[in-house]
Amino acid sequence: MKTSHTLTMVCLLGAAVSFGSAQAGTDELVKNCETCHGAGGNGDDLKVPNIAGMSEVYLNDTMTAYKSGDRPAGSKYKPKDGEESDMAMVAKKLSEGDIEAVAAHFAGQTFRPHAQQVDAALAAKGKAAFDEGCEKCHSEGGSVAADDAGVIAGQGKPYLEEQFKMYDDGSRPMPKKMKKKFEALSGDDKAAIIEFLAGGGK
Ligand code: HEC
Ligand code: HEC
Repeated sequence: MKTSHTLTMVCLLGAAVSFGSAQAGTDELVKNCETCHGAGGNGDDLKVPNIAGMSEVYLNDTMTAYKSGDRPAGSKYKPKDGEESDMAMVAKKLSEGDIEAVAAHFAGQTFRPHAQQVDAALAAKGKAAFDEGCEKCHSEGGSVAADDAGVIAGQGKPYLEEQFKMYDDGSRPMPKKMKKKFEALSGDDKAAIIEFLAGGGK
C-alpha cells in the first residue's frame, strides 16, 4: 500500500515537470528545424523547402509520413551550423505531440517564396499544363496553404525536381487522382511545370 502511494506521487511529479517544460521543448525542436529551414521556416538554400505558413494539416500529415516511412526522405543536408541529417532521421526522433507542436508553430508563420531566376517562356508553357491538370487541387498556382496539399509555388527548383523524381519512380506515394494527372504529363510538361512553380506559380 505504502509503495503504490509513493509511486503515484512520483508519477504525478513527473507529469507536472514535463507539462511545465513543454513550451521550452517546442522551442528547442523549432530551433533545430530552423538550422536547415531558416529563421521562421524560410531560408535561402533552394534545396530546402520553405515550410512557414503551410497548413497545420499538411505539416502534420507529411511529418507523420516521414516518421512512418510512407514518404521517403530526400537528400541528406548539412546546415552551416549543425549536423548532417535527413527528414526521416529528424521525424523518427519526434513524438506525435512533438509533431503537432512544430506543425502548429510553422503553420502560424508567413510563407516566403524562394527568389530564383526562371525562363519566362518555359514557365508560361508550364502554367498552361498546370492549369489543366493540377490547379483544381493546387489552387492559385499552388500557393494556397488551405488546400492542404503543401505550398509548391515558390519552392526551389532542386527541391521540386527531386520530388517530381520521387513521384516518377513511385517512391513517394501520391493521391490517386493526382497520380492520374501526373502520369499523363510528358517529361517536357513536367520540366515546364517545375519552371512555372519555381517562378512563384504566376
Ligand atoms: C538537417 C536539415 C534539416 C532539419 C534539421 C530539418 N529539415 Fe525538414 N527538410 C530538409 C530537407 C533537405 C528537405 C527536403 C528533402 C526531403 O523531402 O527530405 C526537408 C523537407 C521538409 C518538409 C517537406 C516540405 C514539403 O513541401 O512537403 C517539411 C514539412 C519539413 N522538412 C519540416 C521540418 C521540421 C518541422 C523540422 C524540425 C522538426 C525539420 N524539417 C528539420 C532538411 C531538414
Ligand atoms: C486530386 C487532387 C490533386 C491533383 C489533381 C494534383 N495534386 Fe498534387 N497534391 C495533392 C495532395 C493532397 C498533395 C499532398 C499529399 C502528398 O504529399 O502527396 C499533393 C502534393 C503535391 C506535391 C508535393 C508538395 C510538397 O510540398 O512537397 C507536388 C510537387 C504536387 N502535388 C504536384 C502536382 C502536379 C504537378 C499536379 C498536376 C499534374 C498535381 N499535383 C495534381 C493533390 C492533388
